[in-house]
Amino acid sequence: MNTKKILVTPGDGIGPEVTKQAIQVLNNIAPRFGLQLELTEKPVGGAAYDLTGTPIPDETLEAAKNSDAVLLGAVGGPKWEALDFSVRPERGLLKLRSELELYANLRPAVIYGDLVNASTLKPEVVDGADLMVVRELTGGIYFGEPRGVEIRNGERVGFNTLIYSESEIRRIALVGFDIAMKRGKKLTSVDKANVLESTELWREIVTEVGKDFPEVELSHMYVDNAAMQIIRNPKQFDTIVTTNMFGDILSDLGAGLMGGLGLAPSADIGLKQAVFQPCHGSAPDIAGQGVANPCASILSSAMMLRWSFGLHDEADAIEQAIEGALAEGY
Ligand code: IPM
Ligand code: MG
Repeated sequence: MNTKKILVTPGDGIGPEVTKQAIQVLNNIAPRFGLQLELTEKPVGGAAYDLTGTPIPDETLEAAKNSDAVLLGAVGGPKWEALDFSVRPERGLLKLRSELELYANLRPAVIYGDLVNASTLKPEVVDGADLMVVRELTGGIYFGEPRGVEIRNGERVGFNTLIYSESEIRRIALVGFDIAMKRGKKLTSVDKANVLESTELWREIVTEVGKDFPEVELSHMYVDNAAMQIIRNPKQFDTIVTTNMFGDILSDLGAGLMGGLGLAPSADIGLKQAVFQPCHGSAPDIAGQGVANPCASILSSAMMLRWSFGLHDEADAIEQAIEGALAEGY
């Protein structure tokens, strides 16, 4: 039997409740396809901080490194907002991404037939939209040094560094082209090359990598325009490849198209490991009420089957079940 070791890190807020539903779906799917799942649970985020004083204990990191895939819920909440920056729940997530070198973040935005009306945009604008944001996840301004807040000329200044090396750009560009090849063979690289040197280099390297993918139609777009175009005409996009922070923002726009973050799954892919999680946060305001939408978590588990295990039929089955449930009006 095909055994897969999955680490489950439910995290905070609605994380545990949506993750529970995803696990139920996985446990239901597994026997039908002759799949054996070995699930282990470890803390992350505020939950981990409360238990151990750190948002990602070594034990969780080790377990992540030793598993075939990680299913994560969500991290963060007002309870931990006053903590020192270095131990905030979000740092746990960022450390997991950097320690496992999860450099490629895939965030699909697909409009499920019955949900065209869930979007705040006109149905004819969103109907049929299907785009994939490939976001660089372990570099850029999220991790660049120097960073901090310090006194300069008698006042506090806050600073971060937007830095990308050629190799970092090349490897995420490759993912972008690979995915575009499997999709509609159209790749839009999003940057701010008119203002930021680091993304001028980004554009240059993406163009270079593109020479090996003559079948993919490559275009470049400034991020401000991309934000406007996603709202104006999302169907012009197939695959988008972009930096860490631009991808953070544009993928929420993608979720907005779908009718909300409750439907948006994501995959953080690295050289060896991968973490699957909803795009949404911990939604502390609705946690524990049984009203959180588990679709994003369930769809993330489908992404896990597809991207980590190559189990396409199983992933299709989950996605179809979601579509079916939505079609029934749930
Ligand atoms: C996301 C989130 C995270 C990010 C936060 C929680 C650190 O917004 O996964 O998009 O900014 O990457
Ligand atoms: Mg985000």
